[in-house]
Amino acid sequence: MNKALLLMLVLLSAGLRAQQVPDWYDAGHERRIDSLLDIMTLEEKVGQMTLFTSDWDVTGPTIREGYQDDIKTGRLGAIFNAHTAEYNRNLQRIAVEETRLGIPLLFGYDVIHGYRTIFPIPLGEAASWNAEAAEESARIAARESAAAGLHWTFAPMVDVARDPRWGRVMEGAGEDVYLGKVMAAARVKGFQGDDLTDPLTILACAKHFAAYGAAQAGRDYHTVDISERVLRDIYLPPFKAALDAGVATFMTSFNELDGVPASGNEHLLTEILRDQWGFMGFVVTDYTSINEMVPHGIATDSAAAGELAIEAGVDMDMQGAIFYEYLAEQVRSGAVAQSQIDEAVRRILRMKYALGLFDDPYRYSDTTRESENILTEANREAARRIARESFVLLKNEDNVLPLAKDGGRILITGPLADSQEDMLGAWHGDGRAADVITLLTGMREAAGDKAQVQYVSDMTEAIRAARRADVIVVAAGETWEMSGEAASRADIGLPGDQGAMIRELAAIGKPVVVVLFNGRPLAIPGVDSTATAILEAWYPGTEAGHALADVLFGDHNPGGRLPMTFPRSVGQVPIFYSMKNTGRPMDPNNKYTSKYLDESNDPLYPFGYGLGYTTFEYGAPSLESATITRNDTARVSVELTNTGSVAGTTVVQLYVQDVIGSVTRPVRELKAFERVELAAGESRTVTLELTEEDLSFYRRDMTYGSEPGAFRIYVGADATTSNAISLTLE
Ligand code: BGC
Repeated sequence: MNKALLLMLVLLSAGLRAQQVPDWYDAGHERRIDSLLDIMTLEEKVGQMTLFTSDWDVTGPTIREGYQDDIKTGRLGAIFNAHTAEYNRNLQRIAVEETRLGIPLLFGYDVIHGYRTIFPIPLGEAASWNAEAAEESARIAARESAAAGLHWTFAPMVDVARDPRWGRVMEGAGEDVYLGKVMAAARVKGFQGDDLTDPLTILACAKHFAAYGAAQAGRDYHTVDISERVLRDIYLPPFKAALDAGVATFMTSFNELDGVPASGNEHLLTEILRDQWGFMGFVVTDYTSINEMVPHGIATDSAAAGELAIEAGVDMDMQGAIFYEYLAEQVRSGAVAQSQIDEAVRRILRMKYALGLFDDPYRYSDTTRESENILTEANREAARRIARESFVLLKNEDNVLPLAKDGGRILITGPLADSQEDMLGAWHGDGRAADVITLLTGMREAAGDKAQVQYVSDMTEAIRAARRADVIVVAAGETWEMSGEAASRADIGLPGDQGAMIRELAAIGKPVVVVLFNGRPLAIPGVDSTATAILEAWYPGTEAGHALADVLFGDHNPGGRLPMTFPRSVGQVPIFYSMKNTGRPMDPNNKYTSKYLDESNDPLYPFGYGLGYTTFEYGAPSLESATITRNDTARVSVELTNTGSVAGTTVVQLYVQDVIGSVTRPVRELKAFERVELAAGESRTVTLELTEEDLSFYRRDMTYGSEPGAFRIYVGADATTSNAISLTLE
């Protein structure tokens, strides 16, 4: 059999579930697009494929010289970073009233975890394991953005991220494929709603396609080299989940994959995304990634890079001005086919129609809605609720938490205790520091005149004050710029002398509660062994301090769970729960097994881990039937009991191990979970379901499906649970 035919057969059997026609597709629009394409000039077409940035000055939004002329001449069809209703309305007016065809502009922006009301960073939100919360925060972010002139967010980032050195882990849902899929779908639904013509919804963008999270050594923009199997089993599924949820756009990634940069990668952008998945929206590049194909060493110059991009399947060039400069000429010379341009323009216009911009180009620039919808009390309330669900209690010796509100002297210290800006985290949209409630403000407000809250920022003085305090709360971690884009770190401990400060405070003998703010897992075994309690707060957003006071004083019982493994040391990286077994699994008594001489194989805190103010007991799992066939659903039940004295939430997690496969399989993979709230002393039977899809993977021959045989099903409170039962697939 020849190679091409073989590949085709492989792909056809590889579980090709083409995209169902999305809700936003409309045959009537297609006919109108046909008519438009008939009368558009080549330059106007390329204009639709061009996206330039607006800038932000102290006085507000501005636009570079020349861009307004480009709008007028139809050479610029989309703008990003321009926001606020009035400003965008003015730019839109130029496009609609002063251009030959009056095609409306599309306005995009990085609305990653809120527009003005800022929610926890996506990694924190994923720690809530609450898809409804993720959908709600995206919905609110969309409503605020859509009132401020925006049509399109560059979110969600659905990159699976297994290297905590990579600063961008804060933008996604962490290391796991299944949790990543759940969060991707929820966020797309939240941004886009059920109807894109609804002026309270905006286009979402699944990014960065693909495998950006696998950047070598966790260094941003770095090379990615993974197998096709890992690409399909691990990195693609959250993108597919976003697509199945109807996502309107995709963004390419900066990295290369198997030697081909993503923005020139036909395998990704055409074979997988279009041919196999049937994606009907448009693909935008990540920033100047077309231009970057020159230093990548795959194109001799910008024009050649542009050709690679268009051939690969890129529809819109973000900020690179490559299409803008060269594309029309390349079509004229025959280097690029006219039909390719027409197809790209069709995909872009499709989304402008879907948003209803041709009916009313100003429907997203509404100053009344802008003043009424942004940073409302209700939005702040939701941000507070979602923030407190994102917190993960990592340690709580002697039940030092929750703190008593009455009586007691609480000393608050640490570099992040009263920093409004840092609470917002990276990519905070139009979020403003002045809107933020800090830990200190939140604690003071909650304590009122009952507890004495003292704040000391100076270290020497903090030591002195600690002697007179009953409990010390230290706000430690990374400043907001230490994670996000271009914020990789080789040392993922607490920055500066914060570790020493915690040690000195702990040496005084008073309980020390560490509240951590960070955008990535930190390697902090020293903090773990010295602090009395540790609460992981990520970057909680606008309502940080209120949410933290709710949890620290026990008005809310924390129920977050880690979406990423916390290593003990950076030398263990990559470390994630769903690793392979190797032929020499770790045996402490045998030197020649897979382990370190100077460090344990175990993480500091495993994936799925988190404590609360109560305890839960998991009964042994049971199966309705120990043997299933491919069309059956396996039902796995456990009896769950709240054995503590207060109500609380736990996340029942189900992991699967495919014991023997045609290729080696991970030691376990998350396949289902449920957040369960129980009153003190309450018991409930929780049943989770598994279908053949949950047992499927890319097999030895690269076909997608399950393999009959034995599976271990683990049900428990985190990825290390040994509470298991066997299942056989016939
Ligand atoms: C980032 C993208 C982002 C874009 C626009 C790029 O540098 O990688 O995630 O959407 O900038 O701001």
